[in-house]
Amino acid sequence: MDGSERKHIWIIANWKSNKTIAQALEWVSIVGPNLERRDYLKVVVCPDFVCLEEVKKAVSVGNFPLMVGSQDLSPFDTGPYTGEEAAKDLEGLVELAILGHSERRKNFSETDEMVSRKVAQANASAIIPLVCVQGKETPVPEGCTLIAYEPVFAIGTGNADMPQDANEVAESFKGKYGPDLEVLYGGSVTSENCKSFLAQEQINGLLVGGASLDPQEFIRIVEISLGL
Ligand code: PGA
Repeated sequence: MDGSERKHIWIIANWKSNKTIAQALEWVSIVGPNLERRDYLKVVVCPDFVCLEEVKKAVSVGNFPLMVGSQDLSPFDTGPYTGEEAAKDLEGLVELAILGHSERRKNFSETDEMVSRKVAQANASAIIPLVCVQGKETPVPEGCTLIAYEPVFAIGTGNADMPQDANEVAESFKGKYGPDLEVLYGGSVTSENCKSFLAQEQINGLLVGGASLDPQEFIRIVEISLGL
């Protein structure tokens, strides 16, 4: 498939709670120079909050075609919310925020309502909200045009969903929320299986966890996406 047939191909690295600043910078110094600039290709790295500023600086200095995103943001505005990172404080630092990841829903009791509030906060700060949905019934908040279908059984297990099933789920979301919704797949994506997901008609990219930590593996995934 050539890039003109779809709006974008998103390849998004979700590092979760991994990498020190030094390790993050090493990754950027390896991945950055290997990325090719294409209008339709959106490569995003989402480090933890501590690494954001240094990663952003390294990407700017290297002029790499790499966007920087966060893995969360606060459902509140700036103010007395200890430990939270407000969207306003992330302005200029991130272009995208992963919201409603199943690990946050499970370990931090994040609800659909909180995810909706986070989407509103992100949009008010011109940060693209990427909402993770766990199944067809997960609601897509208003103002969200980018989601990642991540079935819980597939996350970090090496047991990815069937590409055809993921395609069918993506199609169902687009049927419900409109064709402008872009749908990514996430859950045990590797350089071995990424092609089979990207080749699906309704899938607009990938959210990559474990396999994104290794710079060479991530480069392979991006290169394969360019070859489609
Ligand atoms: P995984 O994680 O690629 O390690 O399965 C994906 C995710 O949780 O975003």
